[in-house]
Amino acid sequence: MRIRRSLIDLDDLTAEELTYIFKRTAAFERTDPGPLLAGTACVNMFFEQSTRTFASFNLAQLRLAAYVINLTPKDLSLATKGETLEDTAITLSAMGMNVLVVRHPEAGFPQRIALAFDGHVINAGDGVHAHPTQALLDLYTMIEEFDELRGRTVAIVGDILHSRVAHSAIRGLRRLGASVILVGPESFLPDSYAESGVNIERDLDAVLPRCDAIMLLRIQRERFAEMPISDQEYIAAYRLDAQRLRKARNDVIVLHPGPYNRGMELDDSVLEFAGWRYARQVHHGVAIRMAVLDLLVNGEHLPKRAEVVRAT
Ligand code: NCD
Repeated sequence: MRIRRSLIDLDDLTAEELTYIFKRTAAFERTDPGPLLAGTACVNMFFEQSTRTFASFNLAQLRLAAYVINLTPKDLSLATKGETLEDTAITLSAMGMNVLVVRHPEAGFPQRIALAFDGHVINAGDGVHAHPTQALLDLYTMIEEFDELRGRTVAIVGDILHSRVAHSAIRGLRRLGASVILVGPESFLPDSYAESGVNIERDLDAVLPRCDAIMLLRIQRERFAEMPISDQEYIAAYRLDAQRLRKARNDVIVLHPGPYNRGMELDDSVLEFAGWRYARQVHHGVAIRMAVLDLLVNGEHLPKRAEVVRAT
């Protein structure tokens, strides 16, 4: 069996591929690219709830004219009939499925599927581990704003420990040369997160004036048994609200992967703030996923064709 290209985390992409994905995203947002995935069968398997990621993968696949099959956990023999993950992957390969988009509460699950599946696997979020397409759309939203991320300072605030979004975003931001400040209480942000280019701060108010972008996170309550600090303590120290926004720069942008919890990590004044970029992020999510699907299935084909055209 041939192991085909998969996207488990951002490290699976070279710097050139990152650039290529961003270029293609811009192109796909400008003009409909046509049936680039015609004849390609995509299976979406989401073992955890999802609104944005699920819907945008579906739309991306449909826009590229792929065949789309959505399998929910209750449909899968894996869940109740004792079929192993590997045998599920073998079965789907034998049917001629080409792409599996997988979300699962267990870190490493998409990687295991990728080893058994003769096709492309895209990680749509695995436990606390990684969420590469979310990081791509987050990076793209910031690049749209700043062009270059080198020299920019991005704060990621809240439950870093349980956030696969944060884990993938940190990698992406470092790769593109941004300075990262992680902000949160120790229970959500152990000191071990500090590394070159990644600083840890406990005091959000002190950090705000230094940020070009602030990424807020939902507290991932489904991933731990008991809230380590009270909601009131969290809100008092880490909620972004009107008062805190006044401490930030006028031109700061605020991101959130969604779903956001009003009153907890932000209040309504953030949703009305000129720099609130949530809708841009969601918007870019569709074309980013189109670009990832196209890269994995078709490779980096178009620039080469364009070069041929130019050369003749
Ligand atoms: C996130 C996720 O599922 O990891 N949402 C998303 O994909 N946009 C973040 C979250 O659930 O808080």
